[in-house]
Amino acid sequence: MTAPSTVAEIPTPALILDATAMQANIERMAEFFREGDCKLRPHFKAHKTLEIARRQLAAGSCTGLTCATVAEAEAVADICDDILIANEVIGPDKTARVAAIAARGVDLKIAVDSLVGLALAGEAAVSAGVEVGVLVDVNVGMPRCGVPPDAAAELAARAAETPGVRLRGLMGYEGHAVGIPERDKREHVTRGAMDGLLSAVSAVREAGLPCDIVSAGGTGSYDITGRIEGITEIQAGSYALMDTAYAKLDGPFRQAIWVLGTVISRPAPGLCVTDSGHKACTEDHGNPDIDGVEGASILFLSDEHASITLPPESAIVVGDRIRLVPSHVDPTINLHDVIYVVEGDRVTDVWPVAARGYAEQRR
Ligand SMILES: Cc1ncc(COP(=O)(O)O)c(C=O)c1O
Repeated sequence: MTAPSTVAEIPTPALILDATAMQANIERMAEFFREGDCKLRPHFKAHKTLEIARRQLAAGSCTGLTCATVAEAEAVADICDDILIANEVIGPDKTARVAAIAARGVDLKIAVDSLVGLALAGEAAVSAGVEVGVLVDVNVGMPRCGVPPDAAAELAARAAETPGVRLRGLMGYEGHAVGIPERDKREHVTRGAMDGLLSAVSAVREAGLPCDIVSAGGTGSYDITGRIEGITEIQAGSYALMDTAYAKLDGPFRQAIWVLGTVISRPAPGLCVTDSGHKACTEDHGNPDIDGVEGASILFLSDEHASITLPPESAIVVGDRIRLVPSHVDPTINLHDVIYVVEGDRVTDVWPVAARGYAEQRR
C-alpha cells in the first residue's frame, strides 16, 4: 500500500501525530533536566517508537532509555547503549534475551524484587558470558512490584554476591502519586514515597554496597522527584505525546497525538458513530475527549465504534473525520502498527510502532 499523502487519505482508525507539538514537549522536558544533578531516562513504553526515542535522546539531558519489556529493550538497543528495563524479568527465555542484549555491548539494567529473579538473571548472564546490571525494585506505595524499603539492603547484598549480576542501585516508581490532580497532595505523596526509597538507599550504602543509580518518577512527578537530592534519574514517558489524564494536571506539555476516526453513521440528529472504538483507543483512564467538534462527547466506545453525542444542529455528515484525544496514551499506541505524522492536511511521515503487542508470539 502506498503511504497516504494527505490526512483525508489515511485509512482509519489511525494515530495521527503533530511532530511540532511533540518536539516542544521533548525540548521542554530536556530543558528542565539541564539544571541539577538528576537526569532523564525517557520511558519508551509510552510511545514504542524509535523515531520519537531518537528525538528524546538528541534533545539531551538523558542517561539512556527506560523500557517495560524485553522486546522494547531489544528494539531500542539499535539506537541506545544504556537501557533500564524498569520491570521484573521472569522466565528463562526472557533472561536469556536480556543477556543477549548485554552481549551487544549495551549497559543493560533490569529491576529485581526476588531471589528467583536474581538467580534467573545471574544464570542467563553467566551462560552468555556477560554481566547484567540490576536495580533492586523498592515498593514506595503503589501495590505493584518491589520489596519494602527496609528489605532492600538484604536483596542488594544478595545481588552483590550473585555471579553474572552487578548491583547498580535502586528504583522505586511512585505510580500511586503521579496522577493526583491537586499539586500539593501529589507533592506530599511523592515526597513520602521518595523518603521510603532514599531510606533504602541509605541502608544499602551503610552496608557498603554500591548504589550509583536511584531511578524513579514519571510525567506527573518529574518536577518534584527530579529535584529531590539523591534521585539520579526520572523515568517519565507520557510527556512526549500526552493524554487527557495527564492534561488534568496542568503541566506544561501539549497534546501531540490523536486517534483519527471516520463517521460511518449519523443515525439520529444528536448522534454520530465513528469507526474508532476501543480496539483503536483504550478507555482504561476514562473515555477519550473529542477534539474540534463543538459540544460533542463520547457516549460510549464499543469494539469498532465510537458513539458520539452531538448538538442536533451539528453539520457532521457520514464520511467526515473526527479526532479522539486518548485518555491513556501508552496502551492506545500499543493498538496501532504505525503513527502518521501530519502537518495541517499533509502526511509528512509514517513511523512504525516497535515491539507492540507481544512480539514473541510472532516469532
Ligand atoms: C516503572 C514505571 N516508571 C515510570 C513510569 C512513568 O511513565 P509516565 O511518565 O508515562 O507516567 C511508569 C508508568 O506507568 C512506570 O510503570
